Amino acid sequence: MKQGKFITIEGGEGAGKTTLIEQLVRRCEQLGQEVVATREPGGIPIAEAIRAVILNRDHTAMDARTEALLYAAARRQHLAEKVLPAIARGAIVLCDRFVDSSLAYQGHARGLGFDEVWDINRFAIEDCMPDLTLYLDIEPEAGLSRIHADAGREVNRLDLEGLSFHRRVREGFRLAAERFPDRIVTLDASESPERIADAAWARLETRLSH
Ligand code: TYD
Repeated sequence: MKQGKFITIEGGEGAGKTTLIEQLVRRCEQLGQEVVATREPGGIPIAEAIRAVILNRDHTAMDARTEALLYAAARRQHLAEKVLPAIARGAIVLCDRFVDSSLAYQGHARGLGFDEVWDINRFAIEDCMPDLTLYLDIEPEAGLSRIHADAGREVNRLDLEGLSFHRRVREGFRLAAERFPDRIVTLDASESPERIADAAWARLETRLSH
């Protein structure tokens, strides 16, 4: 049976994930393959409803473990309803954020612990890990100034965290990249969008042919 690929794109705020995904969609389509671009938390109605609860700016009382469990719940539903069926019919799935975001944000930046957050996520995703993860690495100062320059962008509850939180997020992603060196490729997100897309595409093309 034809088997698709599961590719995730990770990074802190303002790293340029959306721009990169648009580029990769175009290039995958040129190969004549079905491409599904999606995002977490969200991507399907049940997970979008969970997203609205998590990111609501009024929910300042949300406990860190509740937050981690809600992300894992949204992830499970999105995987079961959208990602796995797409992979099964041979599509390339490009997903904006996945489990590494939980490891970086909840595990490391919120201080819940990498292993604890990994455990609840293993329950959620079983053994369905990405074939490749492209991590866009950027200085938090640079990323945050990019999103603040974008007046049209919605500001969510996590955007309101301070710089030190976003520094810990970056450390968390770097820890994840050390933990999973065969899966996670780190890209320098301070480069131009074209260079980032070229570097990402080189890695992705190799992975698609294996
Ligand atoms: P979003 O507006 O999609 O941000 P971005 O464009 O940066 O992806 O909001 C998603 C937010 O949720 C973002 O701040 C990262 C956070 N997040 C987690 O904390 N844990 C997770 O597991 C995921 C998927 C996202």
